[in-house]
Amino acid sequence: MESSNRQNTKKTSIEQSEIILESSLEFLSLMTYYRAAIREVETKFQILADESTLLNDRNPINDIQTRLKSPKSIFDKLESKELEVSIENIEQEIFDVAGIRIVCPFIDDIDRLANAFLEQDDIVLIKKKDYIRNPKRNGYRSLHLIVEVPIFLMHEKKMMKVEVQLRTIAMEFWASLEHQMRYKKALSKELVDALSLQLLQCAQISDALDNQMQNIRNTIDRETKKEVSK
Ligand code: GTP
Ligand code: MG
Repeated sequence: MESSNRQNTKKTSIEQSEIILESSLEFLSLMTYYRAAIREVETKFQILADESTLLNDRNPINDIQTRLKSPKSIFDKLESKELEVSIENIEQEIFDVAGIRIVCPFIDDIDRLANAFLEQDDIVLIKKKDYIRNPKRNGYRSLHLIVEVPIFLMHEKKMMKVEVQLRTIAMEFWASLEHQMRYKKALSKELVDALSLQLLQCAQISDALDNQMQNIRNTIDRETKKEVSK
């Protein structure tokens, strides 16, 4: 009883420090910096897409989604890592406060865009996870990059971390359904197990689809080039 009281008191004091931090100028500034970093990265990908569209008559980006992690998700993540709620810990320990997802029509677009982005001399690669060459056990595929990008303020330049996810339309279709299943609390464990198996099969089908669509694309491009050079 006493220990549960103590735990409650501890919880309340953590919640209070979260509320204080959330409305502090430091926290609001940090979120503004992350928002700026998202805009920098989004612009970089838009520029790459514009150039490709001009040169190849085809847009390699179908959709760009961005999101800033909510204060609650940030604090929950710090707590799950058993870290103190502080500005320093957010900046140093959480890599996905700023998130951007690039959805491409074809699988080759992913490497091409990722390489062109990483070659830019203001981008610092912190971590790369290639779940396309090494899919997760549940079938999840995407390329994840954690990078640092500079943002320019009135009196300083700040390097901000951004999580970039690159995936095909097929991968996005799969991941959004899998995500929905994972967060539906009402589903029984038996049903989730059965659906997970079906989703794994869908992931294999979507992998085959991506490869076949790429082959068709390559054939069209090859034949078009031959036609032009005649
Ligand atoms: P967090 O999950 O963010 O704590 O990071 P992590 O270190 O485990 O990184 P990882 O690169 O594995 O995943 C980061 C993000 O990728 C997640 O927040 C999701 O957006 C996405 N993701 C990773 N795995 C899956 C998955 O199995 N299914 C779906 N739908 N999304 C996934
Ligand atoms: Mg995340």
